[in-house]
Amino acid sequence: MTAALNEMNPYLHGLYAPIKEEVSAEKLKVIGEIPKDLHGGFFRNGPNPKTPPKGMHHWFDGDGMIHGVWFENGAARYRNRYVQTQDYMANGDGALAGIFDPARDASGRKVHYRDTANTDLVFHNGRLLALWYISGQPVAVDAQTLETIGVENFNGRLPHNISAHSKVDPETGELVFFDYALYEPKMWTGAVSAGGALTHFQEIDLPGPRLPHDMGMTENYVILHDLPVVFSDAAIRNRMWKIHVADQPTRFGVVPRKGGAPKWFEFPTCYVYHVINSWEEGDEVIMAACRMVPNGFKPDPQYGPYAAMADVLALRAQPFLWRMNMKTGEGREEQIDDAVSEFPVVNNEFSGRKTKHSYHVVFDNCIEQRFSALVKYNLETGTSERHEFPKGVYGSEPAFASRVGARSEDDGYLVTFTADMNGNSEAHIIDAQNFAAPTVARVKLPQRVPVGFHGTWAVGV
Ligand SMILES: [Fe+2]
Repeated sequence: MTAALNEMNPYLHGLYAPIKEEVSAEKLKVIGEIPKDLHGGFFRNGPNPKTPPKGMHHWFDGDGMIHGVWFENGAARYRNRYVQTQDYMANGDGALAGIFDPARDASGRKVHYRDTANTDLVFHNGRLLALWYISGQPVAVDAQTLETIGVENFNGRLPHNISAHSKVDPETGELVFFDYALYEPKMWTGAVSAGGALTHFQEIDLPGPRLPHDMGMTENYVILHDLPVVFSDAAIRNRMWKIHVADQPTRFGVVPRKGGAPKWFEFPTCYVYHVINSWEEGDEVIMAACRMVPNGFKPDPQYGPYAAMADVLALRAQPFLWRMNMKTGEGREEQIDDAVSEFPVVNNEFSGRKTKHSYHVVFDNCIEQRFSALVKYNLETGTSERHEFPKGVYGSEPAFASRVGARSEDDGYLVTFTADMNGNSEAHIIDAQNFAAPTVARVKLPQRVPVGFHGTWAVGV
């Protein structure tokens, strides 16, 4: 039964099939030339179930695995390692669930979702932090070896958890985070200094439990998301993972980073997974993000019990701006473009400050998540350029890597992992200022990198 279930799960096969080995490889073969002014590490997190799932398995449930490629003096090396969360180390504990499971077992005992830290990576205080989308324990990982250092609780001062898509302020080095609870009407936000000291923590009351995925950060504010995709009352009562779209507006709460009451702005109902960037201009706090649109697919019966999951995972979104005037309280929503894209990134050295450019993935026209191109946006004009991957080659969320000695925001490279249907992977280096041109260098990787979630660039590691 389990084998038949796994056979039907599209996210256990092909580009998504988990890999078995933790590998270290030096002096990778390169097609083209790695620029000498590219110095640092590109890291990407994603799910990689260590053992075949024994029941219904959601793509989001797989054990976290980080793939890293480091560039220095025109050479590259690669490693991949599991994120050794406490739940990963306690493998086999029956009290751990995936999101297809109820959060109470047959005897009514409360269980918790297996914290995999598989979603996001930020580089803070000289280490990578692996973060989880259901808000979990941040796990510190060595940025040279990818070995797990351990759960990071900032000298025991972190009151709860930290969710994926918390941000690092490039000017101050602070980690600015948010935290949410599945079944409580609360959210939390806080900050950790560049040196690892918790400097701020604040609780925010909500009308009900919410399921935010990302947040905005500007120089002085965080932007929290109160979105209408929520658990039903019955699901909250029974602690089930059962999502529905409620008839309520989308709200963004602008909260002073140093503490203070949120100022809420209401907008037409929409769901947002990923923020592009946020910044301040005069009295306005501006958030650019990818606003979900219907994907146009129908659940595909070939996936059996996974048909609904595959349909929900076929993300389609368009770039928008939300302008929130802190003086007048007025909000305005503006569409940047009507083309579909997701997994947006910017040059992280400008995170929280106005950026002109962002880089997103473009989807192949199929229900599974395959990224056949990247798009570079001019956020001021809505114009864009595309970088196509070779036919049959699919990319992953990229990261922007500034050129050593960079003179402008887009003076650098996009780095991403690719995979093809024959089990081959490469790291591609794309010139951000010559975006539609062929890849500058293709670095051959010793094994396939499954399509995963989010990553980051760390300068000079
Ligand atoms: Fe995400």
